[in-house]
Amino acid sequence: MSAPPTSAIPVAARVHGFTYAIRNIVAEAKKVEAAGRTVRYLNIGDPIPFGFHTPPHLVEAVARAMRDGHNGYTPSPGIAEAREAVAHDFATRGLPTTPDRVILTSGTSEGIELALGAVVNEGDEVLVPVPTYPLYTAVLAKIGAHAAYYRTDPAHGWLPDVEHLRRLIGPRTRAMVVIDPNNPTGAVYPDEIRRALIELADRHGLLLLADEVYADLGYDGPTTPLGSLAPDAPVISFSSLSKAYLAPGWRAGWLAVGRSSRLDEVLAAIKKLADGRLCSPGPMQYAITAALTGDRSHQVAFREALAVRAELTTRRMNAIPGMRCVAPRGAFYAMPQVQLPPGRTDEDFVLGLLREAGVLCVYGSGFGTAPADGFFRVVYLASPEELSDIYDAVGEFTGRFLAR
Ligand SMILES: Cc1ncc(COP(=O)(O)O)c(C=O)c1O
Repeated sequence: MSAPPTSAIPVAARVHGFTYAIRNIVAEAKKVEAAGRTVRYLNIGDPIPFGFHTPPHLVEAVARAMRDGHNGYTPSPGIAEAREAVAHDFATRGLPTTPDRVILTSGTSEGIELALGAVVNEGDEVLVPVPTYPLYTAVLAKIGAHAAYYRTDPAHGWLPDVEHLRRLIGPRTRAMVVIDPNNPTGAVYPDEIRRALIELADRHGLLLLADEVYADLGYDGPTTPLGSLAPDAPVISFSSLSKAYLAPGWRAGWLAVGRSSRLDEVLAAIKKLADGRLCSPGPMQYAITAALTGDRSHQVAFREALAVRAELTTRRMNAIPGMRCVAPRGAFYAMPQVQLPPGRTDEDFVLGLLREAGVLCVYGSGFGTAPADGFFRVVYLASPEELSDIYDAVGEFTGRFLAR
């Protein structure tokens, strides 16, 4: 018998596993605002609301493309000139590749989704760092696959625990995600760790998914692509204009499939999936060429601004009794830890901080850490003056929270 016309249209079960705390927590913040309190948002890694500007030559490239009539669909892997610019850029960073192995995507996010969709079956496992950028677990949940969480260790600068990772590799493991520089921890991995990860993946026939969206935001300068350490290893690199080129809303990204013939079928599968979504936003593809072939001096200023904020954040967090924070080495995130009283969770802390101090962070369990471990993520893009003010409020609230 069919359902009565008044009953709700059912939602697919896979949606329940798809969680993305960075956005979900905003609903709580809106309630706090509706009750009359100002909220300061340290939850989303978007530099634009904090006064950082998209470089004018990128804006001009998009505007020109629109004026010149480039408003139709592009070929599904993207326009030739931007694919060439991406391939050339990788070559200058020590990773030789060709434009036919580059695909332009709607941000890094779509690249991740295309690659996971191309290689992971229902019931498979993918090695994902914990804490992790949550899109990986969300997409795996949608596919019906599982994240096998490998530890990254705050006692060692949030570097991957390679031994732990090795023990997680099993018959259903398909791929290994490496996020470097890292969101949410701000870690930058040394080459010896990167080589150990490549060696493990290579030996076990795992695809390496190298999320390099923050590669140009290491405080000691850009980090080289993971694949540059072993150009024949099975690596797919992902990046975009979102962070280092200050244009997150444009959804302009790319992926590059390593040159190894072991990846030829994966490349064909990704292209096949990419055909179905027609193309990434067309006019923004022209900005990719402008970004990768033009002036990048904004990055020097941006890195300097971030390094100042990272130092301030680490110093102020470590000065709060009951709080510890590993110094970030890149990107714009820190992952402090508060020593929670028994029975309390990271979410209790973060919601209290929001409701009582009007500061919105994201609880660590949204990135896969245990709720009792007391981690939370801070996005430190606000001005040093504003951050200083905010950290006063975090300190006062933490004192009250821990005294309860
Ligand atoms: C590690 C990581 N990967 C991917 C993304 C998504 O970036 P994009 O805007 O390029 O889709 C983000 C965004 O915050 C991120 O932090």
